[in-house]
Amino acid sequence: MQYICTRCAKKVDADTLAACCDCGGLFELDFTPPAWDPALIDRSCWSIFRYRRFMAVDGNIWRGITMGEGMTPIIEFEPGVLFKMDYFMPTLSFKDRGAATLVSHMAAIGVKSCVQDSSGNAGNAVAAYCARAGISCDIYVPEGTSPKKITMIEAHGARAHVIEGTRDHCADVCRREVFEHGAYYANHVYNPYFYEGMKAYIYETLEQLGRIPENILVPLGNGTLFIGVVKALEHLLASGAIDAFPNVIALQGEYCDPIYQGIRQGLDHPAEIEVKPTIAEGIAIGKPMRGRELMDMIRRHNIRVVTAPEDRILDCRARIARRGIFCEHTTAANLAAWEHYCEIYGPSSDVLITMCGAGIKSEH
Ligand SMILES: Cc1ncc(COP(=O)(O)O)c(C=O)c1O
Ligand SMILES: [Zn+2]
Repeated sequence: MQYICTRCAKKVDADTLAACCDCGGLFELDFTPPAWDPALIDRSCWSIFRYRRFMAVDGNIWRGITMGEGMTPIIEFEPGVLFKMDYFMPTLSFKDRGAATLVSHMAAIGVKSCVQDSSGNAGNAVAAYCARAGISCDIYVPEGTSPKKITMIEAHGARAHVIEGTRDHCADVCRREVFEHGAYYANHVYNPYFYEGMKAYIYETLEQLGRIPENILVPLGNGTLFIGVVKALEHLLASGAIDAFPNVIALQGEYCDPIYQGIRQGLDHPAEIEVKPTIAEGIAIGKPMRGRELMDMIRRHNIRVVTAPEDRILDCRARIARRGIFCEHTTAANLAAWEHYCEIYGPSSDVLITMCGAGIKSEH
């Protein structure tokens, strides 16, 4: 397997320990899956790895690392609004999809220790899967991260480093370990193996519903689910498994919206914005590292970007809870953004919304 640099197109073996290309560009995998064919699904396997023929997965090492992630139910929240219950995962968030494929790759190439920065959920997931793989792990989280997420990280035997300042500064501190001290960067933004696991969100949806809903609403912080969703839909479309690309809607927080602003301003990169304090901590990414890539995808598929009004998040969370589902504040922003979308573009239905983080993990 090889990586291709998204900036200079240089090819590098995917067993490299480098976080990115010498030129500073981020890697993507040089991997084209076979055409989608339900006969290639391993129906004996009850996790994202049932779709491994369509994902870059090295050998069989994943068998000792998987915890049955994925296969999350789709339920009706209200008529026409479907929730995919992606916090029904081993570490209570959707990041387990990507952590399972990333850590399996790390184990396959013999990584013994790693670092990762995260607002919490990706750190939880990487810490848990590294524990399973016997890989030592240091996780950097920004101050203000829910103490419960930190407790979880430490329970898995990882070291949690709480960094003063913003989420973006926390990433800079972690990257110093990578670029100055050579640590392996088990990061959901840099490492393309993470996206391979996220693709299963769409493959599962197709298998569960027998179709892809008209509207697919996904959060957009660094865009790990977003990229997985777009890649999987492009794959299904190229395979003739779907007739048209669905209406993908990406959402950002009202107080942290660099891509929304970048698109509005006609830029090819995220806008410089001031990040204001928000309860949607999971999507508070002021400088998404794959910003240009995300904006290319948005333009390629006419994807609409909307913001989640901050003052509606708590009400949405309460309404979702009154229907039996206790989600994270950031996840309640998804419903707030969908309702805002319907106000701007007119009422719509047949939407799939991800419930990507469990309420028990977030506190405000
Ligand atoms: C609950 C929740 N929702 C959404 C996101 C945004 O994901 P991404 O930054 O990959 O776009 C995160 C990221 O950690 C999250 O924890
Ligand atoms: Zn390069």
